[in-house]
Amino acid sequence: MNIPEHFQINSKGHLEVSGCDTVELAKRFGTPLYVLDETRIRQNCRDYVAGLAEAYPDTQVCYAGKAFLCRAICCLMQQEGLGLDVVSGGELYTALKAGFPPDAIYFHGNNKSREELEIALQNGVGCLVIDGFYEIELLNELLAGKEKRQPVLLRLAPGVEAHTHVYTRTGQEDSKFGLAINGGQALQGVKAILNSPRLELLGFHAHIGSQIFDLASYEITAGILAGFMAEVRAETGFVAKVLNLGGGLGIRYTRDDKPLPVREAAKRTGQMVREVFSTLDYPRPKLVLEPGRSIVGDAGVTLYTIGNIKTIPGIRKYVMVDGGMADTPRVALYQAVYEAVIANKAGRPAEEVVTVAGKACESGDILIWDIPLAAPEPGDILAVFATGAYTYSMASNYNRLPRPAVVLVAEGQRELIVARETYEQIVANDLLPRRLCPQNERVVAEG
Ligand SMILES: Cc1ncc(COP(=O)(O)O)c(C=O)c1O
Repeated sequence: MNIPEHFQINSKGHLEVSGCDTVELAKRFGTPLYVLDETRIRQNCRDYVAGLAEAYPDTQVCYAGKAFLCRAICCLMQQEGLGLDVVSGGELYTALKAGFPPDAIYFHGNNKSREELEIALQNGVGCLVIDGFYEIELLNELLAGKEKRQPVLLRLAPGVEAHTHVYTRTGQEDSKFGLAINGGQALQGVKAILNSPRLELLGFHAHIGSQIFDLASYEITAGILAGFMAEVRAETGFVAKVLNLGGGLGIRYTRDDKPLPVREAAKRTGQMVREVFSTLDYPRPKLVLEPGRSIVGDAGVTLYTIGNIKTIPGIRKYVMVDGGMADTPRVALYQAVYEAVIANKAGRPAEEVVTVAGKACESGDILIWDIPLAAPEPGDILAVFATGAYTYSMASNYNRLPRPAVVLVAEGQRELIVARETYEQIVANDLLPRRLCPQNERVVAEG
């Protein structure tokens, strides 16, 4: 394993991230433990902002909270001057509770509920990204009698099939997201919004998928959207002020992944959009990007303690850790592949090929198939790289496993930003009808 560039091996032979010894972090905070490198996250944010600004005059970078969200991360994004993309009432609530400025929030979702929209409207969310006719009707009803017009974007399905896993492709016509340009639904959506006295259409949005390496997909999307914008202007006179191209830039999970550096990718995206508009007689809109994975993904490392090891002679060796699919579900969901090292033996050669299994009661709970590690033993700390995105945010309590803690590290400092769930919290919402539990709640010591 070649260790990612922002990790080091210290004098003890331990894996270190931003000046913090991961073995000590595991001892101090327990495992499984999500570790996020603040320096790296900030660098990724700055690279996006600078790269885009180099190529395009009017830009905004919004962090896609679905990749990883908690209140501390909202504050960090605010400090970096990013907007925020939220996709549910829970994400919106988190942002508002962190004091994130509502006018810098884009609220997405293919089926926002009445209650979610009400909360968004009451709190002055800057922009709603409309995804369907039902939502237009609902908003017209909720905004009836209000004075202010609500700024919105319309999400489009541009008909682009990004080269990525089928579950993370979202721009094709056969998708639950967006109104299709082909066939005229998108134009109908535009007309419905323009007919509404309470909605102010700012422009258009498309998100074609996730873990994308080939920037040509964005160029094609920008071309299709620009063409649609011209068609809309010809048909209705409406000129879009905003073009939001979503997120999706890929990161390095394994040595086979070769993403462009963030700054370079942002710059090229800006250049491509600029070129698209330079060939059209259309005022250049503000360009918004919504990266999630490429902001936090490579900043994360998850630490586990190795316990049981099972060797099946002639077949394989299973090395089992104290977490798995409940905290890192992408392997089970998308056959995702991660790389890892033994954090307390990071300087030693990785010579033994093993399979890392989680502790959930599922045969499919395998974290990493056939990975070379440095002679794993019970008690060793396994560090899995590139786990900052879509891990904690997708984690579950399957098997009633408590969700791990999250610690933020920066230049030798470490701070807990999400506490480990307790068994008490796991049963907190269980109700005990007297009919079923006459003996009342028995007190059980927390493990
Ligand atoms: C609308 C939208 N924007 C942005 C993103 C962020 O994508 P990524 O984390 O791949 O950058 C997503 C991810 O699903 C999305 O659905």
